[in-house]
Amino acid sequence: MSEQSHSAAPGVTVEQRRAERVAKSSIRRRPGAVDSRAVRAILDRHEGERGAVIPVLQDIQNTFGYLPRPALRLAARRLHRPVSELLGVATFYSQFRFRPVGKHIVRVCHGTACHVAGAERMSDTVRQELRVDEGETTPDGLFTLEHVACLGCCSLAPVMMVDETAYGRLTRQAVRRVLGRYRGEAGT
Ligand code: FES
Repeated sequence: MSEQSHSAAPGVTVEQRRAERVAKSSIRRRPGAVDSRAVRAILDRHEGERGAVIPVLQDIQNTFGYLPRPALRLAARRLHRPVSELLGVATFYSQFRFRPVGKHIVRVCHGTACHVAGAERMSDTVRQELRVDEGETTPDGLFTLEHVACLGCCSLAPVMMVDETAYGRLTRQAVRRVLGRYRGEAGT
């Protein structure tokens, strides 16, 4: 049986998409570069908002894929807080990343239902295919591998997500096919 895929609703505004495009184009021009316009657009959106620190950090990460230090400095200035405070908040929550990620994030579910349905085998296959361990990015910058607890679609176990698309009822062959499709799109 072939894998089942499900695209999650993106839930982002036109402004966020625009900021994301700007950020991605800046990353393409110069790896590691941060376009301050994208950060300012995020900060404008949260101007005057109470408790804006976490939403700002989330938007920065959604835009850049991680929390670049220059973006944190800009945010700290606008939020009138020391950078150390923003870093303190970010390190408290496991959702935040401090290193750049690949173009696609591959999340292999290790929740109970997926574990019972063979998540470990799927993980082995992904690791073999990508030749990276959990938390690592492939040398070509195409994939970052993450393990997660539950993706919320347990009836499709075992499940993995690539970016916003969930692939369920996976087999080893299906994992290879899915990853191959993304490689094909990237021309690698
Ligand atoms: S346990 Fe894997 S999706 Fe819930």
